[in-house]
Amino acid sequence: MESFLAFWADAGVDLCFEDEPVDRLAEQLRPLRQAPAPPPAPEQPMRAAAPAGPDIASAIAEARQAAAQAMDLTALEAAIAAFEGCGLKREGARQAVFSRGAADAPVMIIGEAPGAEEDIQGEPFVGRAGKLLDRMIAAAGLQGRVFITNTVFWRPPGNRTPTPQEQMICAPFLERAIALVQPKLLLLSGGAAAKAVLQRQEGILSLRGRWIDWRSADESLSLPAMPTLHPAFLLRQPAAKKKAWADFLMLVERLDRPERPA
Ligand code: URA
Repeated sequence: MESFLAFWADAGVDLCFEDEPVDRLAEQLRPLRQAPAPPPAPEQPMRAAAPAGPDIASAIAEARQAAAQAMDLTALEAAIAAFEGCGLKREGARQAVFSRGAADAPVMIIGEAPGAEEDIQGEPFVGRAGKLLDRMIAAAGLQGRVFITNTVFWRPPGNRTPTPQEQMICAPFLERAIALVQPKLLLLSGGAAAKAVLQRQEGILSLRGRWIDWRSADESLSLPAMPTLHPAFLLRQPAAKKKAWADFLMLVERLDRPERPA
């Protein structure tokens, strides 16, 4: 059920309607021929306040500090592996999964979160979806020109979508990766990555195929970012591949466009 809902969420479907409209007003006005209303439930004692969540602000601050101290990608990977502030690390992940690809790549591909295969191998996008992504990268002539990472660095249990809080806590590491690699363009793979990185609410079907400005939290960096469909979605919906392919072609066109003299 969860993966079925994730499938629709990937497609940007966040509301559902029945086939026929339901007249709720008529329902309320229906004569009271039903059984008498049950007696009112005894008043419930006030629920104890939900236990305070982890201190997200301090986890973000800690991540920001650790990330800022990393002067290269190797140090950043070690800082991520040593970081204790993201709850995902304690939810069954085997190891931190940071990145693969060229350290000076002009394109950074950002996915959602490591899955089962990534959790085993310690590299992003190495499962079925990753194989499809690699084929698209190769077909677009981007082999050796991409750096691949995710919005969070530990596999969420059961491959659930990472929460916005988990993504916010990991964001300073992702921003530091962008600052170190200095790509020209970002490709955001799937709705969860696009929403988190760009701080947008729309579904991926309305975000994809458009250039949207990404800015770092301190506004010191900005880059053109293109949301596209996630390869796991394409595996379930092969007919959507042509949309993703169009996005890749737009990306390559911009990447290889000769720079205008200033
Ligand atoms: N899906 C992602 O978003 N990232 C991975 O690394 C693997 C699958």
